[in-house]
Amino acid sequence: MTTHTPPTIIAFASPKGGVGKSTSCLCLAGALASLGHRVQVVDFDQTQTLWRWYSSNAAARANPRLTVEQGPHGDISGFVQDIYYKRDGFVLIDLAGTLTNQMLHLAAFANLTITPSKLSEPDILEANKLAVQLQEIATRIHKPIAHRILLNEVPFILAGSQAYMLEQIDANNIARFETLMHYRPVYAESFLTGTPPHFGDANRGPIAKAVQELDGIVMEVMTAIAQSQQKAAA
Ligand SMILES: Nc1ncnc2c1ncn2[C@@H]1O[C@H](COP(=O)(O)OP(=O)(O)OP(=O)(O)O)[C@@H](O)[C@H]1O
Ligand SMILES: [Mg+2]
Repeated sequence: MTTHTPPTIIAFASPKGGVGKSTSCLCLAGALASLGHRVQVVDFDQTQTLWRWYSSNAAARANPRLTVEQGPHGDISGFVQDIYYKRDGFVLIDLAGTLTNQMLHLAAFANLTITPSKLSEPDILEANKLAVQLQEIATRIHKPIAHRILLNEVPFILAGSQAYMLEQIDANNIARFETLMHYRPVYAESFLTGTPPHFGDANRGPIAKAVQELDGIVMEVMTAIAQSQQKAAA
């Protein structure tokens, strides 16, 4: 009899659109694949950004470590079973930017849910709304749900209001990655071309810096998942 280890599932979810879910999903998928992991991205986004990129790019499809597929429409119970019992490696789920039951279901199912958010009060409030809802679900289903905010499109020099916002986030113990995802044209480029920084030309300074930043986020992702697994086992 063979024993199957379920994959590590990471969901990218936010109640607000345009915050960087698809961008961070693609960039972190590239970072994990470059570490040698098998990464399967599932695109649930209505705009199908990642799927369109993958299905129209032969070079992307030639990489066996990083694949992209479309999520099913409607009932997702078969999909959830298939992922849990048949897949391995990492499964990254890119969700639409609206708060739906499907989104909450997939976020609760994941080992970690990442909510990108700009360093602005309305965006943080929206991201925190999702954190609170996931906490309520965790209490109801008696299962810890790991959730982190990924501060995205952060400028290199913070305005006074942004520095204050950062202080408030930490004063309120809002769970976030310490590594900030800065505003970098390289990320916008990745989003357009579908080539994550880890698959780009590392001799280009801006790419090397983005790779370093993403590696920092990946280390924190691994720690968050390990902590959550320990909590679930306790
Ligand atoms: N860190 C960043 N630096 C520069 N540009 C960024 C960064 N993050 C995201 N962007 C740009 O912001 C735009 C929105 O990003 P993206 O599509 O990833 O957001 P989303 O949350 O997936 O949106 P939607 O809710 O519509 O699916 C894109 O044009 C992307 O290139
Ligand atoms: Mg998207």
